[in-house]
Amino acid sequence: MKVHVFTYGCQMNENDTEIVKQLLLKEGHELTENEDEADVVILNTCAVRRKSEEKVYSHIGKLKKKGKKIGIMGCVAEKEKENLFKRGVAFVIGTRALASVPKAVSNAKNGNKQLFLEDTLEEIEYHRVETRNSKHHAWVTIIYGCDRFCTYCIVPYTRGREKSRPVDEIIKEVSTLTQKGYKEFTFLGQNVDAYGKDLKDGTSLAMLLRESAKIEGVKRLWFLTSYPSDFSLEIPKAMAENSKIARSIHLPVQHGSNNILKAMNRRYTREEYIALIENIRKIVPDASVSSDIIVGFPGESDEDFEATVDLVKVMKFERLNLAVYSPREGTVAWKYLKDDVPYKTKVRRMSYLLNLQKMINRELNEEYKDKVVEVIVEAQAKNGLFYGRDLRNKIISFEGSEDLIGKTVLVKVNKITAGPLYGAIEKILEF
Ligand code: SAH
Ligand code: SF4
Ligand code: F3S
Repeated sequence: MKVHVFTYGCQMNENDTEIVKQLLLKEGHELTENEDEADVVILNTCAVRRKSEEKVYSHIGKLKKKGKKIGIMGCVAEKEKENLFKRGVAFVIGTRALASVPKAVSNAKNGNKQLFLEDTLEEIEYHRVETRNSKHHAWVTIIYGCDRFCTYCIVPYTRGREKSRPVDEIIKEVSTLTQKGYKEFTFLGQNVDAYGKDLKDGTSLAMLLRESAKIEGVKRLWFLTSYPSDFSLEIPKAMAENSKIARSIHLPVQHGSNNILKAMNRRYTREEYIALIENIRKIVPDASVSSDIIVGFPGESDEDFEATVDLVKVMKFERLNLAVYSPREGTVAWKYLKDDVPYKTKVRRMSYLLNLQKMINRELNEEYKDKVVEVIVEAQAKNGLFYGRDLRNKIISFEGSEDLIGKTVLVKVNKITAGPLYGAIEKILEF
């Protein structure tokens, strides 16, 4: 069968798609980048907000009109399960049932509705996954699931309980990929700081970073996403010791008011969060900290919102993902808290924070003026310029060429905006 896989959602979904593509090829299926050419279209889906879910349903509608066999995997699959059959899909694959995809595809022509929810992750040989999106950077999922149960969040219901992959398996995956020319790795988890806790043998994210940095051929290591009260200061310590570990920490705060943090079940206070960032910056002064914030959570008063505004001003995040609260079926907030902030207020608060963050970005970017930074060239943008990131996850655009992708270059920054920085290559480095 000819299969097209389309990915919505987070990096973990991207990684799952890479794995599924490999499994399909191994079982003799053919892949196509063109949806119209495919017999079977698999949507790897996201349910984090209602809008993400609605996008999937409208995509299903379009595929039905085109007469495609449809498979659903990812978080909407796990959330809706057999309900999806009412929408005319052929198979549904739970977030841990990836290894069942080839079988589901083979059976899809029989027209039976197939539901696979059983955990088959043990069957996956991660180090053999060659269908990666990039030729030099690889996503590496290190922990599945989340046990935090923030009251607004669907993820613990769709991704299940925390389960860490053994260190030696991850090291094998990274080593094998370095032999194929991979230099950059991003360790993924919904709560990456919980990595190793369930293994009960002293394994931790800091240890994994230190071990992985020893692998020949590894140039840069990233990790996503951190959870404030599980975050260990061993991580900035490892960064300070080792120039292969990126100085970039994505540490979502979600809100600036203690009342709302409590209602969100975030298990830390505003003061604890601020103290944590201060401690990180004591160890790694140039650490780049980014964050996520939800506006319009139930009960958010003007005063609560002001607390978020103030926190954003004080923290000066390098990047901020803003989202308007969206009630998710089955979560505690959906069950017990009224979505009572008027839509207009939510939008006004959101755009206020967007503008504020833009000014902060502009101000922080000024520090890059005329600096020379080490950048790994990532890709060519639509405007023809090439771009890459420095060790602090700052995106820089410059004139380049296809053969530089994956290489490390020294770029002199010559133009600042609130978004990307612009510069010119000064030198191409060996490795
Ligand atoms: N594990 C990560 C992020 C998971 S979801 C963490 O703990 O931060 C990614 C982001 O989506 C969250 O950081 C949050 O800001 C946002 N999000 C999650 N559920 C949401 C909801 N119901 N409404 C609006 N935004 C939500
Ligand atoms: Fe969701 Fe909270 Fe888990 Fe992040 S830590 S995935 S926001 S429950
Ligand atoms: Fe979305 Fe699931 Fe990722 S809800 S953000 S695809 S873990």
